[in-house]
Amino acid sequence: MELGNNSNVTILPLKASDEAVDENRRGFVKKLTLTTLVLGIGGSVLQLGRFFKPNVLYEPSRTFKVGELNKFPFGSRTVIEGRGIEIVREKDGVHAVSLVCTHLGCLLKPVLNDSEVGYACPCHGSTFALKGEVLGGPAPKDLPWYEVYMDNTGTLVVDTSKVNQKRTKLVV
Ligand code: FES
Repeated sequence: MELGNNSNVTILPLKASDEAVDENRRGFVKKLTLTTLVLGIGGSVLQLGRFFKPNVLYEPSRTFKVGELNKFPFGSRTVIEGRGIEIVREKDGVHAVSLVCTHLGCLLKPVLNDSEVGYACPCHGSTFALKGEVLGGPAPKDLPWYEVYMDNTGTLVVDTSKVNQKRTKLVV
C-alpha cells in the first residue's frame, strides 16, 4: 500500500451539526470546570471556617448551686444528681463530699443506717466512712470534700474545682 503524495486526501468542511456537537462539548467542559472550581473553593472556605471555631468540648461549670439551706435539714444526706457529690448536713455544719471512688472513678452508693460505712463502691468493693476516709478495698485515698459557701441569696453553692483540704464544714 502506497500513500504517495497528499493529493488524494480530501478535507471535508465541518457540517453545522458537527459544530453544534463541538459547542455542546465546550459548554459541558466549561460547566464541569466551573462546578469543580466552586466546590473546591466552597470546601476550602468551610475548612477555613472550622479553623476559626475553637475545637473544644463544653463541660458544665464546676461551680453550681445546690439549693437553699432549708432543703437540707439537720441529719440529711442529699445526693446531687449528675454532679457526683453528696451534701451532708450535721448539727455542726454542712459539707460536700465527692461520690467518685478514688480507685477507678466509679460512682459510690451512699450507705444508710450503718454506723461505720458511709459509702460503698459497686465496682470493686471499696468502702468509705461518712466523712470519706477509706475503710477497705483497693481505693488508695479518702474521698475529697469540696468548697461549699452560701451566696447572698441564701443558696448553697459548691465549687468542685476547689478541694476543701482542711475538711472544714460550713457553719450555718
Ligand atoms: S472503682 Fe471503686 S473500688 Fe474500684
